[in-house]
Amino acid sequence: MTIAPGASTLRDEIATRLITARDRTRGLTDCVGEAELIRQHSPLMSPLVWDLAHVANQEELWLLRGVGGRDPMHPEIDPLYDAFEHPRAKRPTLPLLRPAEARNYASDVRGRVLDLLERVSFSTGPLVDQGFVFGMIAQHEQQHDETMLATHQLRTGRPVLSAPPPAPPPADVLRLPAEVLIPGGPFTMGTSAEPWALDNERPAHEVSVPSFYLDTTPVTNAAYTEFIADGGYSREPLWDPSGWAHRQQAGLVAPLFWEQGGAGQWLRRRFGVTEPVPPEEPVMHVCWYEADAYARWAGRRLPTEAEWEKAARFNPATRRSLRYPWGDDDPTAERANLGQRHLQPAPAGCYPAGAAPSGARQLIGDVWEWTASDFLPYPGFRSYPYKEYSEVFFGPDYKVLRGGAFSADPVACRGTFRNWDYPIRRQIFAGFRTARDADLS
Ligand SMILES: [Fe+2]
Repeated sequence: MTIAPGASTLRDEIATRLITARDRTRGLTDCVGEAELIRQHSPLMSPLVWDLAHVANQEELWLLRGVGGRDPMHPEIDPLYDAFEHPRAKRPTLPLLRPAEARNYASDVRGRVLDLLERVSFSTGPLVDQGFVFGMIAQHEQQHDETMLATHQLRTGRPVLSAPPPAPPPADVLRLPAEVLIPGGPFTMGTSAEPWALDNERPAHEVSVPSFYLDTTPVTNAAYTEFIADGGYSREPLWDPSGWAHRQQAGLVAPLFWEQGGAGQWLRRRFGVTEPVPPEEPVMHVCWYEADAYARWAGRRLPTEAEWEKAARFNPATRRSLRYPWGDDDPTAERANLGQRHLQPAPAGCYPAGAAPSGARQLIGDVWEWTASDFLPYPGFRSYPYKEYSEVFFGPDYKVLRGGAFSADPVACRGTFRNWDYPIRRQIFAGFRTARDADLS
């Protein structure tokens, strides 16, 4: 987080980030009626009205009670909105707040938070240092806004969301090399300086990776369609053994939301609209196992998390890790497709202003990128401010995703940001790019 233009103080910056998140929450919940807010659109997701009140409940817990020392407003509802107490599939059976009650609760909390923000001191301890916990809550709401967008993608019925398409690719797109070389050697991974970085991004530490090649852009729908046409889904040797078992059991034959049109054409459903799959866009809604199998089919592999971060942050000219591929300044509309401005990824090769020193493009924004790595703590990790943020998820069950997507907000996306999910998950806005060892002999 850096203080944005026009925001003269940390207080203004926090208020702006909180208001941006709430505007998005409203956009995602005001566009459907009461019945659709209460309904569970998929067992993978909460009812939208749960997300709405959960966001408010976490804001009350951390800001009004934690920072402001206030008494609970409605202690009886706390257990309903504790994500660890009730799995998503069970949430529709709970006595949840009705939509109007949830909206009133959220705006009541927010009004009190904005009052608190006017007079809070940022020097009373690590929780408020540089506004950390306020930033954590803005990120939390934006992460739920992304989850709610995934709920919208799973929802059936008339379309209720729309946004302008991204700009077409720049003129040099056809001349881009297929891959870029990332020189081997040490670099600084993670951060100890980013004020709103979460515990799993910390601390900064040195990691060395051998030289490798990385795709210049995420893998496109056109390339992925070749994998399908070449029998990729029926060739067991291409698949990780548990991936092959899952492919068979779940009947995977193409990315989620794809269906066969006429004459070999693929169609996809995107926020309620069925349309031809655009060949030039990064492939999306594939699980880790599909990404892994594609990479093997292409004679390549997924990058490790450390490789991805080195490609995204390390500037060989200065030997320093940047906050983003393009430098230390925050994302802009010219640098990355973030923040739900568009409701789809931009064609591969877009955003030359957001390129990394290596020339790789779209490392930030467009689609989350699966990496080869399990979600593990960095050396010296300390859980903060609570174990349930990251620590309980560490281990081999989850794979790391990097770089954010069109669905993620800049406040919850940076060069060090780590996302994680099960390797079978496909409703998230995830794609991937591939890598290979550099043969420098
Ligand atoms: Fe949450």
